[in-house]
Amino acid sequence: MKKSIKYNPQMTVEENAAENEVSISAVRNYLQRNQIDQSGDRQRLLFDEIHKLMADHPGVSIYWLAKKLKVDYKTAKRYAAMEERPEVRKGKQSALKPGFNIVKSVYYREKEILEGIMALYLKKGRFDADMTYSRGGFYRYIPQPRLKYDIEPKGDDVRQLEEFDELADGSLESVVIDLPFFVAPEPGEFYYAERYGTFHSVDELLKTHADMMRRATRKLMAHGLLVMKTQSFVYGNRQIWTNYHLYEYARELNLEMVDEFVSVNPRRMLRISGKQQHARRFHAYFLCFMKEK
Ligand SMILES: C[S@@+](CC[C@H](N)C(=O)[O-])C[C@H]1O[C@@H](n2cnc3c(N)ncnc32)[C@H](O)[C@@H]1O
Repeated sequence: MKKSIKYNPQMTVEENAAENEVSISAVRNYLQRNQIDQSGDRQRLLFDEIHKLMADHPGVSIYWLAKKLKVDYKTAKRYAAMEERPEVRKGKQSALKPGFNIVKSVYYREKEILEGIMALYLKKGRFDADMTYSRGGFYRYIPQPRLKYDIEPKGDDVRQLEEFDELADGSLESVVIDLPFFVAPEPGEFYYAERYGTFHSVDELLKTHADMMRRATRKLMAHGLLVMKTQSFVYGNRQIWTNYHLYEYARELNLEMVDEFVSVNPRRMLRISGKQQHARRFHAYFLCFMKEK
């Protein structure tokens, strides 16, 4: 299982591996995957340090700078003479840029949203329970949840959803729910329906969402987090704003909405025929609700 890495450009690859409790090759893979200009960042850091020292101590010798920064004389001289900060190499990104490790509200990869939620809200470093685990697509690159449930379990370690209700009330730090997000009276019509199930009516979809939220909330401890993936959709030429219904249910359950992430999926999600009536959706939400008491 891959662990998430919080990369610190001020540290060496080995130090980052130790800090994140992962192997050195995992850090190297991370650098490659994210196209991080690691050698350029080292140069920029040295440039910044030397120029700050020169500004703070006008007239200092190259020898003093080299000793202070533990680099050889020639390197210190070269960097002291540089007028421009070294640029980021083409096609790469700098991990020194402001906000590199900041959790953002929009991502293309769900993994990054889930990592962001874990970093901001979870103490334990993984989700406590997933009520709609399916095949665990969410957890391909992040730690598995402690407890896995599904109405149709697809693995030996996935329990029947009814067993979720047997957990002690107030015992969970976090719960994840990702129900089918649309209505298809004819299930064969959509690939998503075959794979993940669907609802036969808008009413059934909304009632199931409300019911799952209620069940999850009962098991959450005070300040526990409910994460719901959802997507609004068009049905019979009418917009079904599922997310707004979820805000309402949350209010009734004494859940405060504390965050909203947008997951952008550039692939077409639903096949729609006929004249276009509404903007075609390429995004879903991860809504984060916190139990108030
Ligand atoms: C979109 S999938 C979840 C995918 C999962 N998050 C993943 O990462 O692989 C929706 C899940 O909701 C479950 N489900 C479908 N209808 C349901 C219902 N009426 N009540 C509870 N769960 C349902 C399905 O069995 C399916 O596993």
